[in-house]
Amino acid sequence: SSNNVNSLRVASPASDVALELADIDWDNLGFGFLPTDYMYMMKCSQGETFSKGELQRFGNIELSPSAGILNYGQGLFEGLKAYRKHDGNILLFRPEENATRLREGAVRMCMPAPTVEQFVEAVKATVLANERWIPPPGKGSLYIRPLLMGSGAVLGLAPAPEYTFLIYVSPVGNYFKEGLAPINLVVETEMHRATPGGTGGVKTIGNYAAVLQAQSAAKAKGFSDVLYLDSTHKKYLEEVSSCNVFVVKGNVISTPAIKGTILPGITRKSILDVAVNQGFQVEERLVTVDDLLDADEVFCTGTAVVISPVGSITYLDSRVTYGNDGVGRVSQQLYSALTSLQMGLAEDKMGWIVEL
Ligand code: COI
Repeated sequence: SSNNVNSLRVASPASDVALELADIDWDNLGFGFLPTDYMYMMKCSQGETFSKGELQRFGNIELSPSAGILNYGQGLFEGLKAYRKHDGNILLFRPEENATRLREGAVRMCMPAPTVEQFVEAVKATVLANERWIPPPGKGSLYIRPLLMGSGAVLGLAPAPEYTFLIYVSPVGNYFKEGLAPINLVVETEMHRATPGGTGGVKTIGNYAAVLQAQSAAKAKGFSDVLYLDSTHKKYLEEVSSCNVFVVKGNVISTPAIKGTILPGITRKSILDVAVNQGFQVEERLVTVDDLLDADEVFCTGTAVVISPVGSITYLDSRVTYGNDGVGRVSQQLYSALTSLQMGLAEDKMGWIVEL
């Protein structure tokens, strides 16, 4: 309340007055769900296009038990973040890229999708409506989760008759409990995340349920997460459950090439450009387990994880460590370069930042 002497106030671009932040513990944000004030909703029928959406109070949604998303997994999600700058301005990072990826995924999942402009405008409106939930500078970000789903009822297997585009947001800190400390990964040799011709290259909800068993088993053994191999040769790196993977050898930074089974990460793509700008040689190619075990440094990228250094990889009976328990030099350099752009601390020469 405004009488709370402990209440935090920050500069707000939307008005000249100070904005009162939500009353939560801003110093201990992890990556957990916190309900906020508003969500965005837009619906359309199959065969039509999305036209008009609206903000509504955040809350549960009503779905038929026969909804396409519940029965057959006809759904996609996206993830992006808003940062608060010291001057109060709010920054989005390449939101059109999320819009485009959603549109590409919607083709694969037989769904209509919002236009890039509709998507970006809806994201902006949702962020502004929840402005008091954007963490103060340096404390984290507002994670934005767009969903596109078959919300209409089906019984036989077919595209749903109605679709819902929804956006909710939640303030977040670090994704892994390790924070920015190196994570420990195990290479999964039995289960696979994706197969050629499947949906690994789109952000469909089912790709994420499919990794839970291997992830849970790995966590039970003390690992942070699982690194997947290709399902054909069981030899080439694909990605980690929630992020892409990079290996560093000398001045060369390599990541598995996009080939339908790997999620085309926006952070992945941005890091490739940032690395070139910093004078590294980058390669998108087949990366083998041997390349991984022989690397100087390994790191993961994603919207949620940002850049996470890898401290060790366990493959069958061998364990390889990197960075002597610290963050590798290259990982640190790329992390600083990317996050200073995202947080508005460095000049945006790439045209990646959308300021609200
Ligand atoms: C993201 O990084 O935004 C994702 O969508 C991954 C998710 C598993 C948290």
